[in-house]
Amino acid sequence: MEFSIKSSSSDKQRSACVIVGVYESRKLTPAASALDALSQGYLSDLLKRGDMEGRLGTTCLLHKVPGTLAERVLLVGFGRERELNDKAYLEAVNAAFKTLHDSGATDAAFFLSDLNVQSRDLAWNIEQAVLAAHGSEYDPGTLKSTHDKKPRKLRKLVVCISDKAHQTQAETALKRGQAIAAGVALAKDLGNLPGNVCTPSYLAEQAQALAKTYKFKCEVLSQKELEKLGMSSFLSVAKGSRQPPKLIVMQHNGGKKGDKPVALVGKGITFDAGGISLKPAAEMDEMKYDMCGAASVLGAFRAAAELKLPINIVGIIPTCENLPDGDANKPGDIVTSMSGQTIEILNTDAEGRLVLCDALTYVERFEPAAVIDIATLTGACVIALGHHASGLFSNQDKLAREIEQAADTSRDRVWRMPLWDDYQSQLDSNFADIANIGGRAGGSITAACFLSRFTKKYDWAHLDIAGTAWKSGKKKGGTGRPVPLLVHFLLARAGQAG
Ligand code: BES
Ligand code: MN
Ligand code: ZN
Repeated sequence: MEFSIKSSSSDKQRSACVIVGVYESRKLTPAASALDALSQGYLSDLLKRGDMEGRLGTTCLLHKVPGTLAERVLLVGFGRERELNDKAYLEAVNAAFKTLHDSGATDAAFFLSDLNVQSRDLAWNIEQAVLAAHGSEYDPGTLKSTHDKKPRKLRKLVVCISDKAHQTQAETALKRGQAIAAGVALAKDLGNLPGNVCTPSYLAEQAQALAKTYKFKCEVLSQKELEKLGMSSFLSVAKGSRQPPKLIVMQHNGGKKGDKPVALVGKGITFDAGGISLKPAAEMDEMKYDMCGAASVLGAFRAAAELKLPINIVGIIPTCENLPDGDANKPGDIVTSMSGQTIEILNTDAEGRLVLCDALTYVERFEPAAVIDIATLTGACVIALGHHASGLFSNQDKLAREIEQAADTSRDRVWRMPLWDDYQSQLDSNFADIANIGGRAGGSITAACFLSRFTKKYDWAHLDIAGTAWKSGKKKGGTGRPVPLLVHFLLARAGQAG
């Protein structure tokens, strides 16, 4: 879909569909009022008759409204005007795009980003509208033999603003929205691919292709090199699989030479069967999403490179499969991590921390300003927070607050969880420095505590995205989270917080 910004009024729009808002109690937004005047009260008549009441999330598609230049007018209900918050805005905008896609319109003029949304501004409204537009045309069925390769009907969206003075600000928001949307789509695509397609080697190839297109550095370390580095914890997980493990190392050098980079580390288990501690069969297919942390790092890199962010960023992806096999990890096995700490593997299904700990040691060599790891790490996090917030853990309050801020602006939400020393003793082992599980109580916290043993040398935050990276059930599919959050964090670090 092609997007543009235009300062114009709704009555002058020659378009296949003009999209305007209506509040509950039949109040028209300014853009709707202009059309109403042009059509001699056609819209207010319709509201009076009760065909549209302006309730939140409702839509009404009208054809050939008298006096207007547009083929269609799409009325979108925003509910009570004084209750228009970000959640309501998104609900209405999503409903608008749904109706728009179901119509035959090939282009549309969007007049909804001028509305006053509580504690948000025009730039936010536009960015979110662009994300919603992209989200509404996302198609997860690319592997169906009947997949329709024709482009979608809707090809052009003109985001209309009333004040010409806001043109630059609006265009910046549009670019940002498009870059984030492309990153989100990439993360969704990679997540949705099955484990037999999206293997560690496939992820590495995708990273290299992306690096070529967007001109950043990308190196892929092979098993041999990982052995030389002493990554025995990571390698122990990969042992049970016929797919060779990879460590993907990406660098976006948009900042000055010598500027300390922000590092993103993404869990890239392309399938997690649990290993010898085998998972139950029900819904095991969803463990193809166990590389969504990795996918979000790739998505954030794509966006950061497209936006040419003037900072240095490092992306590290340890990727392999976790399968049962004669050569797989066994409960009770002890491995030596790259940091030198020994780990007793009491449950082979707690493999994410085993691959991440070595990547978190490896990242030290970049002397990072901050490190964020992103991982579908624990089912316990889903129990704690459900599917709305990702779990946030950090050894640095300032960094945690920055992430909370980015989560708020992107509406890609997190909730901070404790990382108190009190939990650390749950990881005691009789035979090694640390056990890889800490019992049922506080499972997402003890997983974060495990990682914290490897991140003492820098400011670090951990995002547990087990509940937010994909949706289950009838609408099964990747969400692309937390790409919006990561990009906003990077934007803020680049001094471009919106
Ligand atoms: N990838 C899973 C976590 C997961 C499970 C994410 C379900 C989303 C839905 C992770 O590798 C895992 O298996 N974790 C175990 C840890 C346990 C053995 C301590 C879990 O959460 O059950
Ligand atoms: Mn697991
Ligand atoms: Zn896993």
